[in-house]
Amino acid sequence: MEFVFDAWYVAGWSRNFQHELVPQTILEQNLVFFRQNDDKLVALEDRCPHRLLPLSKGNLVGDNVECGYHGMTFDGNGKCVRIPAQDNLPPSAYVDTYPVEERHGIVWVWMGIKEKADPNLIFNMDEFKDSSWHKHLGDALHIKAHYLNVAENLVDPAHVSFVHPTTLGSAASQDVPVEVSTTDDPIAAWRWIRNAPPVGFFQKFGSFSGNVDRWHYYYLHLPSTAVIDFGSAASDLQLKEDERHKGVRIFAIHFVTPVTRDYTIDHWMHMRNAAVGNDDASKQIDDLFRIAFEEDKEILEAIHKEEQRQQTRAPIRIAIDRAPLVYRKRIKELVNLGSQQR
Ligand code: FES
Ligand SMILES: [Fe+2]
Repeated sequence: MEFVFDAWYVAGWSRNFQHELVPQTILEQNLVFFRQNDDKLVALEDRCPHRLLPLSKGNLVGDNVECGYHGMTFDGNGKCVRIPAQDNLPPSAYVDTYPVEERHGIVWVWMGIKEKADPNLIFNMDEFKDSSWHKHLGDALHIKAHYLNVAENLVDPAHVSFVHPTTLGSAASQDVPVEVSTTDDPIAAWRWIRNAPPVGFFQKFGSFSGNVDRWHYYYLHLPSTAVIDFGSAASDLQLKEDERHKGVRIFAIHFVTPVTRDYTIDHWMHMRNAAVGNDDASKQIDDLFRIAFEEDKEILEAIHKEEQRQQTRAPIRIAIDRAPLVYRKRIKELVNLGSQQR
């Protein structure tokens, strides 16, 4: 199945969780989320221990969930607090809970062994707290594909020239080699396209008059959070690799959450060092990203369908596959490690 359980996954944006039952499937486990009256967000196993009706089909009564079949009631700790027509509450009457944390408006849930749920492991970037960066939580892209294919696409700068020719890439970059660093976490892949006209995105947001140097750095944090650092600067500046802060720079961040082996949700957001405080620009960036991510979705779903069909030979690998291959290897190691510890 290739799921890494001992990890924090994004369940959504804080603003989407109120005092109501929200069912979600993550790593093929069914969860139900609700925000308690004290604002704390909790997640329970979405299955009544009696006849297995999903608790999300029941009702939220105060801070307790009442099963919609026979009314057994559970609190936010998963403890049974009521069995109608019965005084005795046996110890077996409980539901599992999942650790939940909220950071910068993002909801994280820990899917593994509870004792290992260390909030310090939650993905973080200094720019989240830096007021010279504009942060914007975008949307959720639902993709009928295996999450490894989705994540792999996010450490693959080479597809940009072909899949996103009007927004993020152009023909000028087709034959530029990809550089990679695969020894650490994150795995990184990047390339610079020097002295070329700005692509659609930066024509819109960069107000450049001549050619630009454009970079795409793809960082994939295990198991499946991707940061794409991309930007442009006037070519006359001859920017060095570590001077990217001098250009117009955007981070597109993808939190890839496996739902099932056939379905993945990519919660995406962005941060930028230009047009800070300009909400209109955020919306325009959302619109451009939506076009680009729909392009990825179409490709990934078509590949997923093809993968379900009989294959008579293994897919071939080419030079630009180095980072994706290392990514899959690392995931395999994490999956093996996890299954040994269970
Ligand atoms: S199935 Fe939930 S109380 Fe019976
Ligand atoms: Fe893409």
